[in-house]
Amino acid sequence: MLTGKTIVLGVTGGIAVYKAADLASKLTQAGAVVRVIMTKNALEFVTPLTFEALTSNSVIIDMFDTDAEHRINHIALSEIADVIVIVPATANVMAKITGGLADDMLTTTVLATHAPVIFAPAMHTAMWENPVTRENSAKLVNRGYYIIEPAVGRLASGGLGQGRLPETEVIISHIKMVLGQKGDLAGKRIVVTAGGTHEPIDPVRVISNRSSGKMGYALAEAARDRGAEVTLITTPTALNRPVGIRISEVETAVQMQKEVAKAVIDTHALIMAAAVADYQVAETSVNKIKKERGDLTLKLVHTPDILAEVKGTFLKIGFAAESQDLIANARKKVKNKKLDLVVANDITEEHSGFGADTNKVVLIGKDGMPENLAVMSKRAVADRILDRVVRLLVDQPKA
Ligand code: PMT
Repeated sequence: MLTGKTIVLGVTGGIAVYKAADLASKLTQAGAVVRVIMTKNALEFVTPLTFEALTSNSVIIDMFDTDAEHRINHIALSEIADVIVIVPATANVMAKITGGLADDMLTTTVLATHAPVIFAPAMHTAMWENPVTRENSAKLVNRGYYIIEPAVGRLASGGLGQGRLPETEVIISHIKMVLGQKGDLAGKRIVVTAGGTHEPIDPVRVISNRSSGKMGYALAEAARDRGAEVTLITTPTALNRPVGIRISEVETAVQMQKEVAKAVIDTHALIMAAAVADYQVAETSVNKIKKERGDLTLKLVHTPDILAEVKGTFLKIGFAAESQDLIANARKKVKNKKLDLVVANDITEEHSGFGADTNKVVLIGKDGMPENLAVMSKRAVADRILDRVVRLLVDQPKA
């Protein structure tokens, strides 16, 4: 989604400037046209050559540059930008933009633009917490600017606190989210489940499965980047919490069912990528089961079938993780669970299913016709599923 987008990267003078170079590089690799504007203070930390080499574009610094290569109409970038992102954003630049100052190329461009503007502040904790910075921050948000909260951690000053520039991936997620706000799922609410449920045996042990949550998280992020309001109901995973998504954490199938029931009120679509246990222990032991007891037999009873039991007028999209008779079993799930779409997942295929970064799936709607997708990244699979969701929402608008 970054391909061909013009991203104006404003770089101001802070020690986190070196991270802006990583961002410029990643955005360029993702196909964006990155146009960098540096402030004079930023030049104290890094030379324009770094950004020129990374983006293959000249860097703009001075509004009154007489060098033809660098000369640019002082509002040209404000007009061609799809988004402006200021990384790192110092307290100084935030204050100047709050006050409407336009005394250099960056502040002039921000003042003149209709594009969304994202600030990624990075500064010493005391400066971030200073009432004047808090006030400026709130004013910027009220005016429709986006602020990425600085991370907590070790600062250049040696201390610990809030003020670190967030990781590049976090900044890119914000850029994608902002760019996608007018996407084909704008105004739609989507609930996604992810991960494998944990059914407790005793306070120590659980019955679970190999789901990493990657497929569900990819769906949640893809829906967010197409403008949807997303709720992600997830079991514990090793993945980073996605930004801009409402998250509800659960462990068991029963907890997931309760959260799904709450989340689907007024939703447009429920997509269940979670690997929900079909069985739970009949009676969870209050104390740790001792091995001295010898062999152990556990009585397992069914968990609720969340997808089959959930009620409402929203689209129901399920997965079918199968190791045999993929299409026949997936078609049965469409019928038995009354689904609008099933994502048949052959978990015996290489580079597919549990834990993998890629997936190989077949999409089957109510008509039973299979749409075979090649092996592709889970994010690409997510977008193909959402393409179907968009079409289904047009065919069956929510009552
Ligand atoms: O998380 P990853 O490592 O990325 O792996 C992705 C995945 C393999 C988990 C995912 O692609 C997948 O196939 N998810 C569904 C796994 C599953 O539980 O499949 P199932 O065929 O057993 O269940 C069918 C559908 O009913 C699923 O949508 C499931 O969420 C739902 N279900 C199942 C049991 C149950 N008690 N309640 C349910 O709602």
